[in-house]
Amino acid sequence: MENNMITNSIFYIGANDRNIDLFEGQYKVANGISYNSYLIKDEKNVIMDTIDKNATEEWIQKLELALNGEKPDYLVVSHLEPDHSYNIELICKKYPEMKIVGNAKTFAFIPQFFNIENLDERKVEVKEGDSLNIGKHTLNFIMAPMVHWPEVMFTYEQTEKILFSADAFGKFGDLNAEEEWLDEARRYYINIVGKYGIQVQAILKKASTLDIEKICPLHGPILTENLEYYINKYDIWSSYRPEEDGILIAYSSIYGNTANAAKILEGLLKDEKQNVVIKDLARCDMAEAISDAFKYSKIVLASSSYNFGLFPPMENFLNQLKLKNFQNRKVGIIENGTWAPSAAKVMNEIISQMKDIELLEPSITIRTKMNDENLVQMKELVKSIIKA
Ligand code: FEO
Repeated sequence: MENNMITNSIFYIGANDRNIDLFEGQYKVANGISYNSYLIKDEKNVIMDTIDKNATEEWIQKLELALNGEKPDYLVVSHLEPDHSYNIELICKKYPEMKIVGNAKTFAFIPQFFNIENLDERKVEVKEGDSLNIGKHTLNFIMAPMVHWPEVMFTYEQTEKILFSADAFGKFGDLNAEEEWLDEARRYYINIVGKYGIQVQAILKKASTLDIEKICPLHGPILTENLEYYINKYDIWSSYRPEEDGILIAYSSIYGNTANAAKILEGLLKDEKQNVVIKDLARCDMAEAISDAFKYSKIVLASSSYNFGLFPPMENFLNQLKLKNFQNRKVGIIENGTWAPSAAKVMNEIISQMKDIELLEPSITIRTKMNDENLVQMKELVKSIIKA
């Protein structure tokens, strides 16, 4: 992106953040995150969102450089979550003539975050299908509620065929991260927006009617080629279809016997040339395990019993999957318990609240450590997994 120019009249004015410890207060981001913001220059100049507090100074410098002595006429607020909205109050004070473009929900929430003088006179309230001409460019507003908050909206710039997609199509990792889009985009989407598949399907339907040449999200790289690839991934994820035929073995183990059983299963599946990954839920990145559960078609849950219930790392994992509307998968269950195995009962209770789950037989109960009978059962389970 030479000189931060996306086109001759659209500038990138966002920033990378490698100092963040946890994104949204919970997600590990080893390669940081980018907060994207754009300036469209025309007869009227439009800022597309502000950025997080962690990079205010850099954002202001980039904005002023791109404005080159001019003033912004509009700020479009696509999303009010603070990683994008933190600087709204500051920029409104700096440019008191600037109008703010948002929808009814945007303007209902803004006073909860900011104290903006003359908001009623400055607001330009738009709804689905409204447009704003700024010279050579025309912005069309497309409501995208719950992708990822209720006030979210996309903007389609029809002259240059650019979709400003708010959080959608974003990823973890800053713009210098040397990594493919897919894994960190999946981990981002599933964990942050995964619950709202119906709403994402609705926005994909609207987007399918547009001729799009570039997607400018609020995080991660600007997408300029092979857009079908990214849109197809969003279609798969938001319709809860598995992305790959494969097996996630997710285990939680107190002293290692359940871990050992999980690893024996992994070996048996690999002997059969199956596509398998294994996660220790007490030690792995939980967001990655959740992302893998959505990626693969099958999952085997292996857990110790605990306090007449389920070992907490597994209970947390399953409850988070439930919160994200996890569904439409084939599931095997292995429990371990020395005197009163109770893990399978709780695992079954939680997954019974998910849609379209098919249980793989046999469900296996280990009494402390794997025995010969368990090995026979596990080989049967492997056959079921391969057949499923
Ligand atoms: Fe990047 Fe939902 O905020």
